[in-house]
Amino acid sequence: MPRKKIALIGGGQIGGVLVQLIAQKQLGDVVLYDIVPDMPQGKTLDIAEAARVDLFDVNIKGTNDYKDISGADIVIITAGLPRKPGMSRDDLLTTNAQIMKTVAENVKQYAPNSIAIIISNPLDAMVTLFQKITGFPSSRVVGQAGVLDSSRFATFIAWELGVSVKDINALVLGGHGDTMVPIVRYANVNGIPVMELLEKKYNDAAKAKEVMTALVERTKGAGGEVVKLLKTGSAFYSPASSAIAMTEAIIYDEKRVLPVCAYLNGEFGVKGYFVGVPAVLGASGVEKIVEFALNEEEQKLMDNSVNAVKALVADMERLGF
Ligand code: APR
Repeated sequence: MPRKKIALIGGGQIGGVLVQLIAQKQLGDVVLYDIVPDMPQGKTLDIAEAARVDLFDVNIKGTNDYKDISGADIVIITAGLPRKPGMSRDDLLTTNAQIMKTVAENVKQYAPNSIAIIISNPLDAMVTLFQKITGFPSSRVVGQAGVLDSSRFATFIAWELGVSVKDINALVLGGHGDTMVPIVRYANVNGIPVMELLEKKYNDAAKAKEVMTALVERTKGAGGEVVKLLKTGSAFYSPASSAIAMTEAIIYDEKRVLPVCAYLNGEFGVKGYFVGVPAVLGASGVEKIVEFALNEEEQKLMDNSVNAVKALVADMERLGF
């Protein structure tokens, strides 16, 4: 089987880790595009020179020319600017939408059959705009947020219970923002409800609830917690790693059920928007939305989150995109 070609648009913090992980896992040949002259060439040269040590056999190329992404099977997009002091949310939205517009036009031209995984923020708006400009079928456009948000939730639960994170299943749905919806009811340790274990641990239902609320709040604010500590830039290893899990599901046709930002056509009561939901990821991209019944409280939180996504998309449209 010929190696897959993976194009990365944006060679910043996340883009760099993506190259490294793709090489180490030998997922395919990589082209790293960035607008900054020479920087993607330097980054890829550095990683390529470790091939003898890490023992990987993939081609890695850095470029400032979109032509080099020609025929890519998968495109992962991290291009964008972080918010700078004095910049409003609208300013950031305008800047990043402008960048995404150019990116989408070029992906449409040079990699028209690719499956696109978008990481750039504000995520839900960027995914929407990318699909609008490329006209790609929604199965080939997906955003990374839920895999990371769910991994963060699982990590915090594991720390609280003192058990391996490998045995935790935790799902976060909704938009990628403060309104995201960690699904407490189904959080479990190898099938055992987390709430039951917390109640046992504290021997007090109210205290268990309080602890879970803290875990949920930490999950919602986890991106901000990292930003605050780093002082410059935002989380980069975990978003890259999460996008790689999605890439592997696609390359190896794994049919994994992962929470991703996917287009909804009536599922979960949402029509015409990209929102974080569980979906089957395989060789064709988003192959199926996995719908399940939310209880009244969860549905309320989901509606609130969907409304935030709708407001963001409306803002972007108001700004002319
Ligand atoms: N085309 C291509 N790349 C661009 C463009 C453009 N028009 N404009 C900016 N870039 C590049 C920058 O040069 C930079 O190298 O995008 C890269 C972004 O990298 P970082 O600023 O290091 O950001 P990173 O931490 O990688 O996050 C990227 O993902 O999680 C989100 O919020 C995060 O939106 C951000 C994105």
